[in-house]
Amino acid sequence: MSSKIIQTKNLWKVYTRGSIRVEALRGVNLEIERGELVSIVGPSGSGKTTLLNCLGGLDRPTKGEVVVSGVNISVLPDEELVKFRREKVGFVFQFFNLLPEFTALENVIIPMLIIGKSKDEAAREARELLREVGLLERADHYPYELSGGEMQRVAIARALANDPLIVLMDEPTGNLDSKTTLELMKLVRRINREKRVTFVIVTHNKLVADMTEKKYRLEDGKIIE
Ligand SMILES: Nc1ncnc2c1ncn2[C@@H]1O[C@H](COP(=O)(O)OP(=O)(O)OP(=O)(O)O)[C@@H](O)[C@H]1O
Ligand SMILES: [Mg+2]
Repeated sequence: MSSKIIQTKNLWKVYTRGSIRVEALRGVNLEIERGELVSIVGPSGSGKTTLLNCLGGLDRPTKGEVVVSGVNISVLPDEELVKFRREKVGFVFQFFNLLPEFTALENVIIPMLIIGKSKDEAAREARELLREVGLLERADHYPYELSGGEMQRVAIARALANDPLIVLMDEPTGNLDSKTTLELMKLVRRINREKRVTFVIVTHNKLVADMTEKKYRLEDGKIIE
């Protein structure tokens, strides 16, 4: 059975500031199936981050639609878009973006508390997620006590916190060496297989792209292959 989890229709994003006009996305049509592991590659400035942000509801397109699991998120009112993001999307960034004053466990718990889970339930699920990424024994450590690869595993556990439909990763291995990159991608592949979570990974790294099922290439705001 094929089921589209993400679909974009003629997606445009134009930034304007004064007389400067940047066409970051120029008519992107994309279809991603549920459970796919997809990478998006392309030169710097080609629109990868912009596209990812539109897919996850962090940004709104200028024109066109983003349909996630049958819902056109481009037209959702702000508070519904925030709810969509919290409940359905996990984000992983290049610089980990963990909260430095909270432990690994707390970083994973927080998104669950935000959507109203009880402390006990959140703590139980967060421990399970840390176990899945192989970091349960580091649950009480602060981000500064962890290596880059470990921080990124915590970030993945956090991204999975509310059982998202999609996890969007922007250069997740940009700050990792090649051995750690490989380990992280193996983890992503295992989670993708076991949980059937859809992953969309923006990357400059050919090794990372080669470990995904499908590669898209963006150039000048357009998908070219
Ligand atoms: N907030 C903004 N205001 C104006 N222009 C922007 C804004 N965000 C992005 N852009 C422009 O849109 C284009 C696409 O940017 P984007 O960040 O999506 O590229 P990218 O493919 O992610 O690049 P990189 O690989 O360097 O991260 C660039 O020309 C960029 O300068
Ligand atoms: Mg980018």
